[in-house]
Amino acid sequence: MSKRVAIVGTGSYLPEKILSNFDLEKIVDTSDEWIYTRTGIRERRVARPDENTSDLAREASLKALEMAGMRQEQIELIVMATITPDTHCPAGANWLQAKLNCPRAVTFDVTAACTGFIFALSVAEQYLKNGTFKNALVVASEVMTRTLDYTDRSSCILWGDGAGAAVVVPTDEDNGVLSIHIHTDGLNGQNLLMPGGGSMTTPISHESVDKKLHYLRMIEANRSFKVAVNHFADACLEAVHYNGYSIADVDYIVPHQANARIIQAMAKKLGVSMDRVVMTIERYGNISSATVPIALDVAVRDGRIQKGSLVLLTAFGGGLTWGSALIRW
Ligand code: UT7
Repeated sequence: MSKRVAIVGTGSYLPEKILSNFDLEKIVDTSDEWIYTRTGIRERRVARPDENTSDLAREASLKALEMAGMRQEQIELIVMATITPDTHCPAGANWLQAKLNCPRAVTFDVTAACTGFIFALSVAEQYLKNGTFKNALVVASEVMTRTLDYTDRSSCILWGDGAGAAVVVPTDEDNGVLSIHIHTDGLNGQNLLMPGGGSMTTPISHESVDKKLHYLRMIEANRSFKVAVNHFADACLEAVHYNGYSIADVDYIVPHQANARIIQAMAKKLGVSMDRVVMTIERYGNISSATVPIALDVAVRDGRIQKGSLVLLTAFGGGLTWGSALIRW
């Protein structure tokens, strides 16, 4: 048994193609002003037609491996968070294993929507701490734009594509992942829903496609807004209190990027100034599970997060799912 796990490399990948709010103005009845004021989003990225979720994940993973000074062949475990895998069978992580060429690795997916990266990290943490594997690649990757109904202005403006990854190893040092807390509420989990593609609607029929059941739907998004603020704040406090810290001890909060106003409300509730919150939503939008590792990688690479920094990851999303990870970098 090792004491804890540490992240020794991070990476992210965003497709080149930009879809701006002005581009969306030409597709649906919306405006840059409405989208930016209500969400904080100016633009998002869109994967090329020949780029799938595993391709985005591969690029992010290669960068994380490079930072960690590791080769693909060494990887023993890949846990991939995604709600948009290349296929439901085989798992997205298996496509990634083939494309990344990691023959030794055991690979599988975790489905926890926007909290997926924190859930996947918690799975890897268990295997590494109990000694089953010596290292893990935790990756979150999404091609959200292929799940969207571009006639539904209330949801198509929110989402984008991208991937983030982390190389995780066991450690007996004091630095590393201090705690992970994860939560679900399936009783109230249908507000972010992709009704088609599962056993409820298969075989896929003309009727299910005509009813647009294969698209992502947001129901009572307003209600989700309020629930998100509370769960975000609770998850942050749970993490710091569990470790005997206060929120003032945290150097950077790296939250899921669903809506800038949700994050601002969370920061206000916690009494944290926004310069201690890592934001990527303006340029990348909501990329479900991938927003947290992308924002983490951005802050590691631009030097905000340094050795010794106390970093708090937190997320909220469909399912319902929410959680936090406190990390001494
Ligand atoms: O990643 C985790 C899952 N994500 C969430 O849980 C998202 C949480 N919710 C939100 O972020 C916000 O609720 C939204 C950004 C989705 C919506 O913002 P809102 O301030 O809650 O707006 P609303 O849904 O209350 O809509 C206000 C108005 C409506 O018009 P009426 O009924 O007041 O006339 C909408 O029809 O804005 C209209 N509207 C739009 N107008 C222009 C909705 N979407 C658009 C649009 N452009 N794209």
